[in-house]
Formats: sequence, structure tokens, C-alpha cells
Amino acid sequence: MTARLLSPSADTIALAADTLKRGGLVAMPTETVYGLAADASSDQAVASLYDAKGRPRFNPLIAHVASLEAATKQAILSDTARRLAEAFWPGPLTLVLPVAKHGTVCDLARAGLDTIAIRMPAHPVARDLLRAFGGPLVAPSANPSGRVSPTTAAHVMADIGDRIDAVLDGGSCALGLESTIIDCTGDTPALLRSGALAVDDIEAVCGLLRRPEADETAPTSPGQLLRHYAPKAALRLNAAAPVEDEAYLGFGPGEGTLNLSEDADLHEAAANLFAMLRRLDATHERIAVARIPSSGLGEAINDRLQRAARVRD
Ligand code: TXA
Ligand code: MG
Repeated sequence: MTARLLSPSADTIALAADTLKRGGLVAMPTETVYGLAADASSDQAVASLYDAKGRPRFNPLIAHVASLEAATKQAILSDTARRLAEAFWPGPLTLVLPVAKHGTVCDLARAGLDTIAIRMPAHPVARDLLRAFGGPLVAPSANPSGRVSPTTAAHVMADIGDRIDAVLDGGSCALGLESTIIDCTGDTPALLRSGALAVDDIEAVCGLLRRPEADETAPTSPGQLLRHYAPKAALRLNAAAPVEDEAYLGFGPGEGTLNLSEDADLHEAAANLFAMLRRLDATHERIAVARIPSSGLGEAINDRLQRAARVRD
């Protein structure tokens, strides 16, 4: 497959929105960097996105929305969060917030967390696409994992043009740097990623930010600031069969309390991973998980399972 390079118009935006509704992948310009957009409500579309990025891990993604009202359907905004959104949206600010009870962003997009990262981009093409699509779009930077973020449509075509459906060409990105990420789930907002919106501007609105990187005694890398989904149940990995009172999360043909993919399809398993862990966690104290091959998306699945098995506090 080679991506269609689309010049933005009412027709091509409608075509792109339609592609996304069918679970396809469309790179869109934002004012920060080009994002690879997928339907945030679809575990299947998000699994395809991770596949196309070649992500070694399932990091949670940013849900892009067209309006503050759309954000309030997905997340719970504190007074501080609302003030930040009103001051800087649309623009290069991402807020991490508690997820709303009836939010539609899928488990895989949130990597199983009960928080959600949201931003309202300012680029007119991204805004038009979000309105035409009519729901949140996840959009990590449109580069293969480990490469620099693309700031032109040509970068995207060269990097991942053979793995996605379309690229909307919105020229070069004005800012060229990812959004600043602020965690608004606690009492004091915290800086999770510095980015295109200056910290001083943010602090002028909400007061001093907590800086977990500098505050915490142990040295941390930005990746470690992120909490990871951890089931309450104990996990036993690479289990050929359950013992005693364990639930069994299968993979491939065979019995199981639930099965990630009876066809041993890693894409389907990725799409089911967090939702199934949650279901088993609600009913069991111990979960045995079948061995998952480590090729393709299996690497990210195993990474998450190992984290979920390790975290205990
Ligand atoms: O400027 C940007 O933000 C670009 C454009 C395309 O919008 N997007 C972007 O997305 O940089 P991505 O997926 O590359 O970065 C998402 C970041 C990751 O560092 C992830 O750890 C963090 O957001 N994140 C997402 N959900 C989170 C959550 N619930 N808690 C903490 N961090 C979260
Ligand atoms: Mg990136």
C-alpha cells in the first residue's frame, strides 16, 4: 500500500474522515508535528496504528478533540484543568486527566490507564478533520518508533508512506516540537513533558508546576514518569495452563477463561489485551497468561504483560 497524498479540501477531508471511520490510518498536520491519526474509540484501529509505528511498547496516546465540550465527554476537568484549557486551547498543550465514566476512548489507546491525555490542536486541517470525523482521534507523531518527528508531509511519506492510507498535506508545521504535557490528576499540576508551550506561560495561569523529574529522589527518565496499568490480580506469564483458581487468558486455539486471539493473531491480541485483563481482574485474584510470541506486536504485548506482572504496591 502507498498512502494517498491529499491536498486539503472539503472533499479530501471527507475522504480522510471516511477512511478513519473504517479503521484506517491518516497522517494529519498539527501545529506541533504531523500526527498519525486513528479512531480513538476502536481497539482495532489503534492496534493497526501501533503496528504501523512499529512501537516497541504500548504507550498511552493523546486523544485529539475539536472542542472543550468534546474533551468534557472524555475526561473530568478540575478547575485548574479548565483554566489551562481555556487559556491555551486550541494549541500545543496536552492535559492528562481522570477518564470520564462514559468516555469512548478505547482501553488500548489509554494503555489500560484510568487517566487520559487530551489536546485540542490549532492547525486548521486537524480541526477540520476532527469535525468531519465527529469524535476523538489518537495521533502519535507520524514517524516510525525511534525516529525524529515529521514536520512535513514529505517526511511522513518517506518514513511510513508504505504503511498508512493517506497523508493530508498541510505544509510545514509552525512549531516543529511536540505539545507540552501537564498532569492535572493530582492537587498540583505536574510537568510530564516539556514541549512547544513554554512552562512560564503555563505557570502564569496555574501557579508553579510540580516537576517530577527534578523532585523525585531517584533519577527518572521521562518514560518512567508514566504510571502503568497494573491489575490487582497476580499475573503468571508464559503459562501453558491454569492451576487451581487461576483465570486463564489464552492465545491461539484451546480453552481459556478468555482468549486474546483464537487465531493466534497478534493484532487481534493487542486490540483485546487491556480490556480482557480488566475483565479478568474484576472476577479473579490470579490470572495465568498464555505464552505470546515476541514477533511484531508481540513484543509490545509482552512488554506490557511483564510490567503488569511486576508492579505490586
Ligand atoms: O504535539 C503532540 O503532542 C503530537 C501531535 C501529533 O499532537 N503528539 C504526540 O503524541 O506527541 P505521542 O503519542 O507521541 O505522545 C504521547 C505522550 C507520551 O509521552 C505518553 O507517555 C503521554 O503522552 N501520555 C499519554 N497518555 C498519558 C497518561 N494517561 N498519563 C501520562 N502520560 C500520558
Ligand atoms: Mg513521538
